[in-house]
Amino acid sequence: MTRWTNQAAIDQWAAMPREVLAEMAQDGDFSKRHLVNPVLLRMLGDLSGRRVLDAGCGNGYLSRMLARRGATVTGVEPAGALFEFAAGEEEAEPLGIHYLQADLCGLGASQPAADLGEPFDAVVASMVLPAIPDWTGAMRACVGQLRPGGRFIFSVNHPCFEQLASTWREHGAYRVSEYLASYEIEERYATDFHRPLSAYLNEVISLGCRIAEVAEPGLSPQIAAEETGGDHPYLHLPNFLIVAADRS
Ligand SMILES: C[S@@+](CC[C@H](N)C(=O)[O-])C[C@H]1O[C@@H](n2cnc3c(N)ncnc32)[C@H](O)[C@@H]1O
Repeated sequence: MTRWTNQAAIDQWAAMPREVLAEMAQDGDFSKRHLVNPVLLRMLGDLSGRRVLDAGCGNGYLSRMLARRGATVTGVEPAGALFEFAAGEEEAEPLGIHYLQADLCGLGASQPAADLGEPFDAVVASMVLPAIPDWTGAMRACVGQLRPGGRFIFSVNHPCFEQLASTWREHGAYRVSEYLASYEIEERYATDFHRPLSAYLNEVISLGCRIAEVAEPGLSPQIAAEETGGDHPYLHLPNFLIVAADRS
């Protein structure tokens, strides 16, 4: 694998077209709407008056969903185009969200820009860790922003079923030939980095968190019938892994 830096990965995200960010500004995309968002919201519970950090917030759709449900939200996003989109939405319709343009790995370090104030009740990193070469540094920073007992939630493309939809289309089943190694996956706009499932779970445990729930959401048959015309790989295999862990 090429020796990647966080900045090289961030530069790829920064080239994401504005119209794509706008298409997903409301509640993400089909997968977020039906599989990821409902689990994140359930794992977060009552949001009123809670301080939540949306770590790697992208276009800010989740920040806005959380703020509309009563949370006080900070969104951290390093890629210029995404940060500017999120900040622009806040300017157009203020929800009290504070956005900071920064690499997660710099949080808690000595730069003044990384001063996020009081510790958070919850930190959500949705689909972010697979985008970061130094993902252990990013996870450490996320947990470091929590108050004791605060909740860290992360979602990733399920490491056991990556590229599920395209593999299913090709073979009518899921196939994988490499799992244990770390490798790059070229996605549409940027590169994701595969790590085994155990790497994510063991890292969050080693940071002193207690895993409260592991979710592998499947698509409901009703949504598959209404929106995809019937059969869909996400009815059979989980495309996402979502973990809730509490800081001790
Ligand atoms: C797949 S997108 C997910 C965005 C958003 N959380 C969502 O669910 O729509 C991955 C995000 O991680 C961000 N990212 C990449 N490297 C990062 C880093 N070092 N620190 C924080 N965010 C990073 C990207 O800029 C991008 O916004």
